[in-house]
Amino acid sequence: MTQQITIQSPDDWHLHFRDGSMLNETVAATARCFRRAIVMPNLVPPITNAAMALEYKNRILNAVPDASQFDPLMTLYLTNLTSSQTVLDAKAAGIPAFKYYPAGATTNSDAAVKEIEVLYPVLQTMSDEGVMLLIHGEVTDSHIDIFDREQVFIETILSKIVTSFPDLKVVLEHITTKQAVDFVSQASDNVAATITPQHLLLNRNDLLVGGVRPHNYCLPVLKRNTHQEALRQVVASGNPRFFLGTDSAPHEKNKKENACGCAGCYSAWSALELYAQVFEELGALEKLEGFASHYGADFYGLPRNDTTVTLIKQEWQVPREIVLPNGHPIVPFFAGETLQWKLG
Ligand code: DOR
Ligand code: ZN
Repeated sequence: MTQQITIQSPDDWHLHFRDGSMLNETVAATARCFRRAIVMPNLVPPITNAAMALEYKNRILNAVPDASQFDPLMTLYLTNLTSSQTVLDAKAAGIPAFKYYPAGATTNSDAAVKEIEVLYPVLQTMSDEGVMLLIHGEVTDSHIDIFDREQVFIETILSKIVTSFPDLKVVLEHITTKQAVDFVSQASDNVAATITPQHLLLNRNDLLVGGVRPHNYCLPVLKRNTHQEALRQVVASGNPRFFLGTDSAPHEKNKKENACGCAGCYSAWSALELYAQVFEELGALEKLEGFASHYGADFYGLPRNDTTVTLIKQEWQVPREIVLPNGHPIVPFFAGETLQWKLG
C-alpha cells in the first residue's frame, strides 16, 4: 500500500479568506500547502474594482507567514455597475477573473447581478481581453427547488453564456451535480469546473440524516449520492477540465450553529488530505497531482509550481475547534474526525 506521495505543490482555485484579523487564520491555513489561491471577492462591501482588489491583496500578503511562498490571485465581483473599463483596469492590474454571483445566491451576494444579459457587453470585453468568468451556478428564483438550482442555471443561463461567448474562459465553481459534470465534459476547452472536498466526500444524507449538521451546510447544497458519485468518477478519470477549488469558507461557530445558519465549510486545514483520501478510495491516487497541481494552472495559463509537497499515510485528528484571532471559535470541516493522510 502506498505510504507516501509527493506531488508538485497544489493551488486552490476557489476560496474565501474574509478580511481583517480573520486573515491571520485563513491565509496561514491555506499557505501551509497551497502556493496560489483564487480569492473570492464577496466581502462587505464587495471587491468591485482593481484598486479595492489590490488593497485587499496587500492585506492578505501581510498575513502570509512567508510571502515568497504564496501568491493570492484576486477576483472582482460582477455587479450591474461593472463596465468594460472595469475589465480593462482589472487586466492592467493583473487580476485574472471576475466572479458572477446571481443576486441572492449565497453569502453576501445581495449586490450581485439580477439580469446577466445586461452585462453581455462586459462579458464581450472579458472575452476580448482574456479575463476569465468564474460562476456561482445556481438560479435564485423562489419557485425553483434548492436541489435543482444548479441544473436549472446550467440549462437556462450557463448554456447561453457559453454559446454567446465561445472564446470566454469560464469556470463553473464548486459543481455538485451530474448535469454539471456532463455539461462541462461536453463543452469546449474554454469551460472548466472546480470541485470541493465536501461535494466529493458527502451527500445530502450527511447534512440531514440523524439531525441537521450545520457544519456540512454549504451552497450549492449537498446533493443525492448519485451526483456525488458522478463527481467522484470524473475526478478519478483524470479529466483536466475538473480541478481543485476548496471553497473553504469560514463562519464563526455561533453563525453556523444557529437557527439561520450560514453556508460554508472551513476546510483549509484539511482539504488536501481529504482530497487524497478520496482519490485513494477511488483507487486513483496517481490522479491527485493533475487535479490538485496541474489542471488549474494550465487552464488559467499560469506556470505549474516549482516546489513539491509530500503527503504521508499517518492518522491525525482534525481539531474540534480553532480559536480565531478575535477570540471567537470556529469549527473546521471534518472537526474531530480522524484523517488517513497528513501533510509532511
Ligand atoms: O457555502 C458557501 N459559502 N457557498 C458560497 O457560495 C459562499 C460561501 C461563503 O462565502 O460563505
Ligand atoms: Zn465560494
